[in-house]
Amino acid sequence: MLRQTVDMTDVLTVNGGQPLVGEITVRGAKNLVSKAMVAALLGEGVSRLRGVPEIADVRIVSGLLELHGVAVSAGDVDGELVFDPTNVERAHVADIDAHAGSSRIPILLCGPLLHRLGEAFIPDLGGCRIGERPINYHLDVLRQFGAVVDKRPEGLHIRAPQRLQGTRLELPYPSVGTTEQVLLTAVRAQGLTELRNAAIEPEIMDLIAVLQKMGAIISVDTDRVLRIEGVDALTGYTHRPINDRIEAGSWACAAFATQGDIYVKGASQPEMMTFLNVFRKIGGAFEVDDLGIRFWREGDAQRSLVLETDVHPGFMTDWQQPLVVALTQTSGLSIIHETVYENRLGFTQALNEMGATIALYRECLGGLACRFGQRNFLHSAVVPGPTKLHAAQITVPDLRGGFSYLIAALAAEGSSRVHGVDLIYRGYERFQDKLDALGAQYAIE
Ligand code: EPU
Repeated sequence: MLRQTVDMTDVLTVNGGQPLVGEITVRGAKNLVSKAMVAALLGEGVSRLRGVPEIADVRIVSGLLELHGVAVSAGDVDGELVFDPTNVERAHVADIDAHAGSSRIPILLCGPLLHRLGEAFIPDLGGCRIGERPINYHLDVLRQFGAVVDKRPEGLHIRAPQRLQGTRLELPYPSVGTTEQVLLTAVRAQGLTELRNAAIEPEIMDLIAVLQKMGAIISVDTDRVLRIEGVDALTGYTHRPINDRIEAGSWACAAFATQGDIYVKGASQPEMMTFLNVFRKIGGAFEVDDLGIRFWREGDAQRSLVLETDVHPGFMTDWQQPLVVALTQTSGLSIIHETVYENRLGFTQALNEMGATIALYRECLGGLACRFGQRNFLHSAVVPGPTKLHAAQITVPDLRGGFSYLIAALAAEGSSRVHGVDLIYRGYERFQDKLDALGAQYAIE
């Protein structure tokens, strides 16, 4: 089995109050890399993915592919993984379950496995604790392609009694994962698939680029419509993914919150336009060059703002948590309306224990009514600032919340203990090396 060097440490003691200054590098986007790895299952030849970050999610997907008979190895180029799907085979659901842990990637194996083996058996799915995160859209679209879904106590058994058929689909919400499900299934289904209300995140566009390299025919039309003409066979691919815009935005927020100055090599302006506008509005400064973006905080005149998270091209929900830490350092009242996940503001409780005074509301504050309004979801926040953060004992709740706690601890005066930092390795490559490069003061317990 492929081994990547991801060193795990559970508790960090962070001595905060120092600006983070220096240069770090971001590589392939977590939320594209894992999907491109799954796409390799569809090819009849070897696929090569470059610039793959050393994160726990990559290890999990490598293991899942290996359980299904795909040979995964390191390539010659830096950060290259090579996938050989010649001997794809069935895996035991218990092994998938044990290996996947809380990852939601197994659901995306369904389309490729239905094409290759006629069936897929996947466990119940986890993911970050940021909301219910159901898979009903995924199962609905698979059924519309002609798959039969059988819910069993040990998991879901999904089979294709005959070749899957292209179909007309419309999503109730532009779900990223379901759009990927449709793409990974429709490319080898018989005939044309039309998907309305599709997600159009840059990572989706990059997955389409991967599939096109493999021989797929996919058009991206106006108003969130994708059209996919199924083909009989696909080849392998060679691809260098877009870089991780969530990680880049997270480090930008760290520069802001600690009054530091961070050059993020690999950060790319086109995918970060929305983030950069918000960063500038709150008093952040940035400079774009050919290789990356430098982020720092401009003077003392930081401003609060009203912000809604949304699907692309809106402000990503994954940037929200690090941004909230930055907002605790701006002057005035900021309002955040989280419209993608119903439960992605719980992490603010620990920030309040560090001196912030964030209040959560069930109402849709500051913008349009969303799916979560007038229900029992605390999905709007009022963030007053500036507040002086002080050290605390905190436990990482989820991936992005965890990184945000790290930022808060780095910004706070004194010595904080951050528990459960392993979770951060799911999506932040070698973050301790990066903290070292930025002069952070911390100790591993
Ligand atoms: N939804 C349903 N039913 C479904 C699928 C989704 O109700 O069957 C709902 C979800 O509960 C949520 C909304 O639709 O309220 C959007 O979910 P989506 O399917 O778009 O999210 P995802 O594909 O599960 C990916 C990323 C997330 C990122 C979201 C939104 C990966 C592996 N995960 O999740 O990333 O927040 O899209 O952009 O690509 C992260 O990186 O930390 C992370 C959570």
